[in-house]
Amino acid sequence: MASLGVNIDHIANVRQARQTVEPDPVPMALMAELGGADGITVHLREDRRHIQDRDLELLRATVRSRLNLEMAATLEMVGIALKIKPDMVTLVPERREEVTTEGGLDVAAQQGSIKGMVDQLQAAGIPVSLFVDPVSQQLEASCKSGARWVELHTGAYAEACWADQSLQLARLTEATARARSLGLRVNAGHGLTYQNVEAVAAIEGIEELNIGHTIVARSIAVGLQEAVREMKRLVQNPRREPLFG
Ligand code: PXP
Repeated sequence: MASLGVNIDHIANVRQARQTVEPDPVPMALMAELGGADGITVHLREDRRHIQDRDLELLRATVRSRLNLEMAATLEMVGIALKIKPDMVTLVPERREEVTTEGGLDVAAQQGSIKGMVDQLQAAGIPVSLFVDPVSQQLEASCKSGARWVELHTGAYAEACWADQSLQLARLTEATARARSLGLRVNAGHGLTYQNVEAVAAIEGIEELNIGHTIVARSIAVGLQEAVREMKRLVQNPRREPLFG
C-alpha cells in the first residue's frame, strides 16, 4: 500500500501572491498530517517563489511525520539541506522560467556531480531520491549515483489522453519493476489528481506518492484536512480495474 506525501508549495504560492503572512504553510502542514499525510514535501526553489527559508526551518521543527525537501542539485541547496537535515532530499531539475518542474533530472548526463552531492547528503544521514523520467537509462544512472530512492515522474501519464494513458501507465509499471530490480526504492508523483491517482497507487512496488496541486485546489472547497483524507483513501484503497476495456 502506498503512503501519501503532501506537497504544500501551493499554499505558499497564495501567500507570496501578496507577499504577506497568510496563508502560512507551517500550520497547514499540521492540518495535512491530521488528515493522514504520511509526509510533508516542500520545494525550496532557487528563486524562492513560494516556500521561503523560514518555512523550511519552522517545518523542520514542527513536522511530526516526515519532511521531504525537493531541491535543485546545487551547492547552495546542498548546504541548506545539510543544515536543516530533512528526512529525505529529492533532487529535481529546476529552470527559472518554468511554471513547475518540467522533466525528470538527467542523471545520466550529470553522473559525476550528482554522485558527489548524493554521497555528501547520504554521508550526513539524509536519504536521497532522484526525480527521474520512467526510463531505464535514468534508473541505471540513478543506481550508479549511489542514491537509494528514485521518484518516478508521472507527468506524462497525467497529461496523456485515452489509449496513451495506458501506455504511460505501463511505462511506470515497468520502470517500477526495473528500479526495484536495481535495488532502488520507488516513489512517484507530479500531476496526479483525484481522477487519475488510483491506477498509479495500484502499481506494485511504489512506496509513496507525492501530491500537491490537486490537494491544495480541493482544500479550497472542503478544507485541507478533508482534502488529504479523501486523497489518502484513494491512495490506500485504489480501484484495480483496467483503465480501458
Ligand atoms: N514530485 C515532484 C518531484 C515535484 O516537483 C512536484 C511538484 O512540485 C510534485 C511531486 C507534486 O506535483 P503536483 O503539484 O502536480 O501534485
